[in-house]
Amino acid sequence: MKPEELFDLHDRVAVVTGASSGLGLTFAKGLADAGAKVVLAARRKEKLEAFAKELESQGSEAIAVVCDVTRAEDVDRMVQATMDRFGRLDVLVNNAGTAVTLPAEDEPPEDFRRVLDVNVTGSFICAQRCGRIMLAAGKGSIVNIASMLGLVGIGALTQASYNTSKGAVVNMTRELAAQWAKRGIRVNALCPGFFPSEMTQELFDTESGLRFLERRTPMRRTGDPEELIGPLLLLASDAGSYITGQTLVVDGGWTSI
Ligand SMILES: NC(=O)c1ccc[n+]([C@@H]2O[C@H](COP(=O)([O-])OP(=O)(O)OC[C@H]3O[C@@H](n4cnc5c(N)ncnc54)[C@H](OP(=O)(O)O)[C@@H]3O)[C@@H](O)[C@H]2O)c1
Repeated sequence: MKPEELFDLHDRVAVVTGASSGLGLTFAKGLADAGAKVVLAARRKEKLEAFAKELESQGSEAIAVVCDVTRAEDVDRMVQATMDRFGRLDVLVNNAGTAVTLPAEDEPPEDFRRVLDVNVTGSFICAQRCGRIMLAAGKGSIVNIASMLGLVGIGALTQASYNTSKGAVVNMTRELAAQWAKRGIRVNALCPGFFPSEMTQELFDTESGLRFLERRTPMRRTGDPEELIGPLLLLASDAGSYITGQTLVVDGGWTSI
């Protein structure tokens, strides 16, 4: 296969959760540019619809589906909408996520539970429901967007529930990969370092926050969301056909020291 064919996603259908802002937009655009038809799922309808229109105006096929990933009935409806429109589901990017910033000694249990509900249970529900379609087809790729903060602590950001949830996503990835490998489904985790988005806006907008990130990163800069497209396509496409259960860290070297 030629290199460009390895990453080609024409005739594939990709679901991206959390596709109403931030990295989800970049992931969906990257998949669409590789030829995939994309399903944009999140809670904010207007943002999803505007983005779907934008992708369509650029020649891609895209649909917007309102879906709260913590609600199994919403996820079932999203999968049904995907099958009704496109008749297949090849790639899931489990990107929807949330964070709470509070010192561990002050974080209310209900906040902690909510973060785990979205980041872990929501990712599981989506993997399970999309996975059923992939298992029936005997092929599919699931990319869980974890975080380098699922691999290391950081202290200064005070996000105990977030780090806990991303650690869980990393190991859920391994277990789903192990259960489904012989049935044609690959499951991998992509672990970004720091990239600008709604979630990280406060940090990026503060001079001291940005300087902290730059100083702490061996490459001495934060990431450009476009730098996640290549790693995502590797895991999502046939270029990564023998990769499963793995964690691909894209962090400018943060976790190397
Ligand atoms: N930015 C970074 O530096 C960074 C680093 C490592 C990992 N990540 C991960 O990357 C993913 C995307 O985050 P981001 O940085 O792009 O932040 P973001 O702009 O805040 O995006 C989060 C997305 O998740 C969606 N979402 C939240 N709760 C949801 C729910 N219950 N159901 C469905 N969708 C939900 C939001 O859409 P609605 O509000 O419309 O539902 C939004 O589209 C997250 O998993 C995050 O943990 C980000």
